[in-house]
Parts: sequence; structure tokens; C-alpha cells
Amino acid sequence: MIAIPLEHCGTANFSKNLLRFLTCGSVDDGKSTLIGRLLYDSRMISDDQLAALERDSRRHGTTGDIDLSLLVDGLEAEREQRITIDVAYRYFRTPGRSFIVADTPGHEQYTRNMATGASNSSLAVILIDARKGVLVQTKRHSYICSLLGIRHIVLAVNKIDLVDFSKNAFNCVISDYTTFATKLNFISIVPIPISARFGDNVTMRSGNMPWYTGPTLVEYLEQVDTEMDLEDKPFRFPVQWVNRSDLDFRGFSGTVVSGRIRRRDSVVVAASNLESQVRRLVTADGDLDEAVAGDAVTIVLTDEIDVARGDLIVEPLARPTVADQCAAHILWMSVDPLLPGRSYLLRIGTQWKPAIVTAIKHKIDPNTLEHLAARTLELNEIGFCNIATSGSITFDPYEENGSTGAFILVDRFTHETSAAGMISFGLRRAANIHHESLAVDKAGRAALKHQTPTILWFTGLSGSGKSTIAKLVERKLHEAGHHTYMLDGDNLRQGLSRDLGFTDTDRVENIRRVGEVAKLFIDAGLIVLCSFISPFRAERRMVRELVQAEEFVEIFVDAPLEECIRRDPKRLYAKVKAGLIKNFTGFDSPYEPPENPELHLDTTSADAEMSARRVVDHLRQAGIIF
Ligand code: ADX
Repeated sequence: MIAIPLEHCGTANFSKNLLRFLTCGSVDDGKSTLIGRLLYDSRMISDDQLAALERDSRRHGTTGDIDLSLLVDGLEAEREQRITIDVAYRYFRTPGRSFIVADTPGHEQYTRNMATGASNSSLAVILIDARKGVLVQTKRHSYICSLLGIRHIVLAVNKIDLVDFSKNAFNCVISDYTTFATKLNFISIVPIPISARFGDNVTMRSGNMPWYTGPTLVEYLEQVDTEMDLEDKPFRFPVQWVNRSDLDFRGFSGTVVSGRIRRRDSVVVAASNLESQVRRLVTADGDLDEAVAGDAVTIVLTDEIDVARGDLIVEPLARPTVADQCAAHILWMSVDPLLPGRSYLLRIGTQWKPAIVTAIKHKIDPNTLEHLAARTLELNEIGFCNIATSGSITFDPYEENGSTGAFILVDRFTHETSAAGMISFGLRRAANIHHESLAVDKAGRAALKHQTPTILWFTGLSGSGKSTIAKLVERKLHEAGHHTYMLDGDNLRQGLSRDLGFTDTDRVENIRRVGEVAKLFIDAGLIVLCSFISPFRAERRMVRELVQAEEFVEIFVDAPLEECIRRDPKRLYAKVKAGLIKNFTGFDSPYEPPENPELHLDTTSADAEMSARRVVDHLRQAGIIF
């Protein structure tokens, strides 16, 4: 970690004329005033806006002169009302460069907004009130920036006018901050003493601090090169689409996310290990000899190898990791908490894969960087987790390459982005385990039993009649000569799931285990009857997807809660009412009824025997039994 003097910041990449940066801090630190000042000094404010600003400053302003914070504070107030608001992006231009500032709210409940802003930025301006020094929130903001891969920090020590332009106060902030930030992996930390209100060292050099000889904020932002290492990293090209514009043309289109590539270079498709050479680098403006990070090109190879959307084309001597398990930091962005064991969709670059969080190693208190034990992650929480994907993904550690190491998790029902993730490393254990093909297979075992292996999945409230009906069905199948097995919630919870309770997380894990066991029994050629409340659609779907489509029959055993309470076969509802049981389904734990079950049994209008017969009839009609 170093404060790079201006002359070393490199102006070579001056063509990269746009800098995206993030401001961190709160209204109190002067964040709005600073952004207002940048817009004002760079003449990005129209005459109308200026007139309105002068009028508002006289009416509401807190400073006597023009209150620049009013330019942006309207939005801040709007934010206080709603939690879902995104990030405000503001644009300004100086003779040297164009800028996009991500203005994100500073409070802890807006961590996900800050992370969104940070993920698009290559530098952060961290505002510190010179009177208050480094605060808990300064540390949180810095940690999130570091997590999201920001490597360049400007420490804007603001309100320096209020400490008499004191060099000493400035140095104290620097020393506190640099001590704290040693853990955070920043490449540069550049401290600048400013007064956003009066403009000292923002655009104009201040006459009040002769002791400060460094650049003004804008000078620095115009010069800093945050992309200097991107082109020197290994070549990575995620294929966005396969371009077959005519019969003779086949190219792979996308953007070089890091490194460089020339004609005749050898390349390899990371997942399949297929090798080839670059024949052409095609762009709308003609062929290139070389493409570098940031360039959009269509790569034509010398061989007809198999490449699809989602593949990563790379250089053979610096390959990424290909694995189906990894360890990653995730920042949870959804109001529905993370449920380890639940299947989400993971998107990394152009690859999409179903994924589950298999373990939360710890969560991190962003204020203190302390590691805490956790079984779930709530909105805005950050955890270090193991993640397993169905099928391998190709990636680099996020530390090494931000574009190929970052992913999101998407909820499979609501399609909202549930988390942002940063991969630390692949887990090798998966790579050393191979699928062993057995001598006798499912079809062989089923044929010997003259039956079609199937999961009969009974779901419904406690007391709805699931187990009663399932037991009758099993007896009928058995008498008809079928080979069956029954998995029942109460029984499994005395063995395989003895360690699990009834929190959402534990129920997800319970059903995941049951699903895996049922799948094994299917493989053994059996008809498996599963009787579980299984309250969540997501996990029922997960089990459905573990087997072939026709092998899963979902049976909704439907009885209203009042009826289940009236029946109360296990005397559990009485205990719930007496306050002796927590997280009881239908009370303080949800039940999501199936939307399209293969069978819907209303147990208030039919008795158990009739319902069981309906199940058997259905199996016959579906050709599962004869
Ligand atoms: S599930 O939600 O994970 O699918 P499962 O079917 O295994 O639940 O277990 C439910 C059985 O546990 C119920 O039939 C009931 O006998 C018992 N039980 C004990 N506590 C609870 C609770 N809090 N909620 C629901 N069922 C409970």
C-alpha cells in the first residue's frame, strides 16, 4: 500500500478517457457538497439550475453562501423513504477527462447499493470529516470497496477549513487510515486535504495550505490510471455469441476482458481443453493485428473446434480454474435470507449454472472485520462460503481478475439478484472425485422388478394426512407385487436428519438430504414414497430436478389449517397454541402450496382410503404401474 506521487501515476493510457469512481461517506461528511462542487466547478450546471440553487440556498441553505449540497440532496431525501433505490450516477467533464461518479448512500442498510456502485467503479473517493477522523463507517466503506475489487483510494480529508487547515490533523487521519487499511489490499491510497464547501484543492489549488504540495482532487482524478494492469493480465475472452453470418464464416464474438491477443496466437477453450490458433480478429472497422482488454472483437480460429456461448477462450500457458466447487465471499442483496442448500442460478461472465451454498464458513462484520459464526445471511450481510455448481464453471480468483472472478446468484422463482459474489479459490476436492459407473444400472434393476422407479412426493401441513395416505398407498403397491420404500419426516428426523431443527435453513437441508436419498432408491429401481411437509416450492422443485421428469409425482395433501388443528393427531397443535413449539408450519413458519402438482387430494371431502385409491389410479393411468 503506497500513496503514489502524481508523476508515477502514468499518463500513457490517456486514451482511456473515462474514469468511473465511487464516493463513500455520508451527507455529514460533505459527500453531497463535494459532488455538487465537482458539478459546479466543471460547469455541468445549467443557468436554470444555478438560479434555482441560489434561490434554494437563501431559503433552506445551511451555509449562508451557495449550498452546493442542495444540488444532490433532493435525491438523498428520496432515498430515506425507499430501500430499493439504486445508485445515482452523475456525469461531469473536465478538459482532461470525463467522469461518472456513483453516488451511493452511506448507511449500513444501503450496503448493497454501495456494492452495486463499487462494482462499476475503478476508484473510490473516501470522505473523512477532518474533525472526526476515521469512523466505523469509513472502515465499512473501505472494506466493501476492497471486497468489490477497488484497488485505488483517494482519502479526501474534508472540512479542513474547520480545523484551521491543520497539517497535523491531516497527518493524523492518514496515519489512522493507513494502519487500518493494511489488511485491505489497496494498490494506492492518495490523501488530499480539501474543503468541498469553499473549493480548496477540489478543482482549485488552495492558498490556505502551503504545506500541501500534492495534486488537487480533480488533477489527480484526471491523471490516475486504474487500468494499467488489465492488459498485462492473462488473456480472457468470454464468448458472448457464436457468429455465423454466412456458411463460410464462423467466429466467436465478445469483449476481451483482460490481456491481449494477436493473430496466430495459440488459444484454448478453458472448459474443454480444445486448442486452436487465432486466424482473424474481426471488427466492424476491419481486421486487427492485436486486440487488448476492453476491445470488442470476433475471433476466427484456424480449426473447427466446438465453442459455445458461455465458453471462455484463454491463453494456453495461463489457464483459469475449471471446477464445480469454490470458496467465495458473497454479499447478500435480497430481503429473503440466504438458505444454504437451496438452488440458485449462478451467473459468471456468460456462464449460467444452478448452484447451492454448501456451507457458510463465517460472516464478516464489515465495521470491525471480525469473523462471526452464521447459519444464514440476511440482507446486506457478507459471508465467506463454499459454493457447489451443477457442472463445472471457469473462473479466476477475484483478487487476480475482477472480470472472471465475480458472479451473481439469482433467485430461481423471483429472478431477482440475490447476491454478488467474489471467488477466492476453487475447491480441488471435487476435481479428484470421479463418477464410478456401476455394473448393473437403474434400468436393469427396475426390469428385474417389472416396474418403473418413481418418487411419490406427498407434501402438506402437519396433520393433513400425508403419512396416513402414503402408508395405504404403499400397502396397495406392495400387495400388487411392487418393490417400494417409504421415507417419512418423523422417522428420518430420528436418524439421518437428527441434527436438524425447523428453521427455514434446516428444512431446506432436510429436503436436500431426503431428495438425495430418494434419488438413490430410484436408482435401486424402487417406487419411493416420501412424506414430508416440505414447505418450500424451491426445494420440491430441486428434488424434481434431481431425477427424470417422469420419475417425480408431486401429491398435494390438502387440508385447511383449521382442520389440521381440529385433527391434531400428534397433539402438536395444542403445544403450539400453548407456546411450547416455535417455527411451526402454518403458524410462524410458512407453507407454499404446490402450483401444479400431479395430484391434488382434498382430504376434507375424501377419506384416506379414497385418496389412496386415487393415487394408485393415477399411477396406473400414467403407466407407472400396470
Ligand atoms: S420439513 O418441513 O422439514 O419437511 P418434516 O416433514 O421433516 O418437516 O417433519 C415434520 C414433522 O415434524 C411434523 O409432522 C411434526 O410431527 C414434527 N414437528 C415438530 N416440530 C415441528 C415444527 N416446528 N413444524 C412442523 N413440524 C414439526
